[in-house]
Amino acid sequence: MCGIMGYIGEENAKDIVISGLEDLEYRGYDSAGIAIVNNESINIRKSVGSPSELRKLTGNEFGNIAIGHTRWATHGAATAENAHPHTSESGLFTIVHNGIIENFAELKAVLESDGIIFRSDTDTEVIAHLLEKNYNGDLKGTVSQVLKMLVGSYALAILCRDYSDTVICAKLSSPLFVGTAEEGSFIASDVSAIAEKSHRLYRLNDNEIGLVKKGELKVFDLDGCRIRKNEIKLKAFDKNDGKCGYEHFMLKEIHEQPTAIRNTLKEIITENNQVFFKNFHLSSKAIDELNNIIFVACGSAFHVGFVGSYLCERILHKTSSACVASEFRYKKPHLDGNTLAVIISQSGETADTLAALRIAKMQGAKTVSIVNVENSTIAQESDNVIMTRAGKEIAVATTKAYSAQLAVVYSLIFYLAQKNKSITKSQSEEFIRELKSIPEIEEKILSQSTGFYKYSEQIIQAKYICFIGRSFDYCTAMEASLKLKEISYIPCEVYPAGELKHGTISLVDKNSLIFALCCCEEIKAKTQSNINEVISRGADVICVSHDGEISVPYTDDIFCPMLEIIPLQLIAYYTAKKKNCEIDKPRNLAKSVTVE
Ligand code: F6R
Repeated sequence: MCGIMGYIGEENAKDIVISGLEDLEYRGYDSAGIAIVNNESINIRKSVGSPSELRKLTGNEFGNIAIGHTRWATHGAATAENAHPHTSESGLFTIVHNGIIENFAELKAVLESDGIIFRSDTDTEVIAHLLEKNYNGDLKGTVSQVLKMLVGSYALAILCRDYSDTVICAKLSSPLFVGTAEEGSFIASDVSAIAEKSHRLYRLNDNEIGLVKKGELKVFDLDGCRIRKNEIKLKAFDKNDGKCGYEHFMLKEIHEQPTAIRNTLKEIITENNQVFFKNFHLSSKAIDELNNIIFVACGSAFHVGFVGSYLCERILHKTSSACVASEFRYKKPHLDGNTLAVIISQSGETADTLAALRIAKMQGAKTVSIVNVENSTIAQESDNVIMTRAGKEIAVATTKAYSAQLAVVYSLIFYLAQKNKSITKSQSEEFIRELKSIPEIEEKILSQSTGFYKYSEQIIQAKYICFIGRSFDYCTAMEASLKLKEISYIPCEVYPAGELKHGTISLVDKNSLIFALCCCEEIKAKTQSNINEVISRGADVICVSHDGEISVPYTDDIFCPMLEIIPLQLIAYYTAKKKNCEIDKPRNLAKSVTVE
C-alpha cells in the first residue's frame, strides 16, 4: 500500500508534498517521512503516525525539491526507522517506494555480504543500496539496470545527489502519476493529489521511467528509448466535504447511505423503471449464452458479491459464485467467453481485485466492474464499468459505498434477468420499484440511530460473539461481523446458522452473545430453531428481524441485506466509540489495499 508524493519547482516543496501525503493518507497512515533538498543537502524527517506529524517536524525548512511517503507497514514494524525515505550508504540516493520487493531477501543477502549495513527492516532499502552499488554516473541507465533486478511491485520516486534538478520515478504494478505546470512538477500515487495543481497530467505505465524536472516530464523504457506520452483527461472526482457536524466520517457516511443509493440509481434506472447502463457492451445473445456469473472482490465488496451470487441463482437462474479476489488465481479458475466476471471495488485500486480482473480478461471472460472512483485503474481497464455514486468515502470501514455497490448488483441482475427472460418486464419493474424505495426505509431506521448505543456495553462484556443467519441474512451477517471487528477490535465470528451445530456451538455458553439475523421470511422458522439451540446453552441472543429486538421493516426477502446492515453498522460504530477506538482510521488498516 503506501502513498508517494514528490515535487520539484519554484514553491516550497515540503508544503506541497505534506499536503499531498495528507490526501494520500487513505493508502496507509502508520508512519510518514519526507526528504527535502536544500542546495547541496538533503534533510530527511520521519515520524510514526499520520503525515500531518511532518508539519511539526519540518517547521520552517525550505527546499524546491521534496519526496515523501505515507506508510502501511509490510516489512518491518511501523517505526521511524522503517518509515521512508530510505537512503543508500553514502546518502547518494534517497528513495520512497509503494509496493513490495518480493526478492528483497536474496538481494539483501548479497548486499550484506558486500559489507553493506542495513538501517531498516524494510524491503525498500535494498533498492537504495543497489542504486549506489551499480551507479556509473548515468542516472537513467543505473535506475533501469536496478529495476531489472527487482521482482514484485513498485512505484518509486528517487533523488540522486548528483542530479539536483531531477526526480526520477518508475513503476511496476503500483500506480504513479506525474503532473506538470510552468512553475513545477508533481509526482503522486493517486492523481487526485496533484490534479488541481497540474496543467498537464500523465499516467506512468509499467516498466516506464520518468525523468521529472521543473515543468517537464521525459519518459523512457527500460532500454533507454524515449516514449511519447499522451496527457490523460480526468473525469470529475469526488471531494472530501468534511464531517458536516458528525463526530466521525463513519457516522456521517452511515447516514449518507440513502443518498448514495439514490444517486447511484439515478444514473442507471430510467423514469419508467428500466435499468439502463451507458456504454455497456453485452449483447442479448451474449447474456443468453452466459453459463457462469462469478463475483470477485475483497472484504466488504466481497460480501456484496456474495449477495450477488445468491441473487443470480434465484433471479437469473444461472450458476453463480463469489470468490475472494486474493484467492481467485490460486483456485485456478476455468473461465471462458460464457463467463461474466463481476469485479467490485470501491477504490478501484485493490491489487488482488485488479489482478483478478486481468486474469478474467486474459481467459476471455466478459467483465463488468463496479467502482466508486472514476479514474481508478480498475475503471480504466474494465470492458464495462458501472459507477457507484457514493461520493468520497473517507472512513476506512466502508458503509455508503457498500450500500451503493449492493444497489448496482441488484440493478445488474434485474437487467440480465429481464434480457434473459428469467423474469418478465413487469416483475423487473416491480423489483426496481422496491429497490428505489429502500433509501426511504433506511431513513426511518437511521432516525433511531442513537437507540443502538445501548448494545455496546453488552458487546464489550461478552466473552464470545457470533453473527448467524441463513440465505441473505447470512450474507449480511458476514458484513456485520467484519464491521464490528474492524473498528472495535472485538473478536467475533460469523456462521451460517445451520452450520453452528457442526462444531462451533461448543464455544457457546452463558457468556456468549449471538446476533441472529432473521429477516428472510422464507427461512425464518429454521433460523428460529438455531436461535433456540443457542438459548438452550445459555447464550444471550439479539435478534434482527421484522419483529425482533432490533426491528427492520418488511421487504421482499432479496432486499434484506440492504436494510438489516444499517442497525448493525450503527451498533459497531457505537461500540467502537464506547471503547474510544480510532473509528475513522482503525489500527493496521488502510482504505486502499494496493499490495497483494
Ligand atoms: C471493510 C472494507 C474493506 C474493503 C476491501 C475492498 O470495511 O472497507 O474490507 O471493502 O478492502 O476495498 P475496495 O472496495 O476498495 O476494493
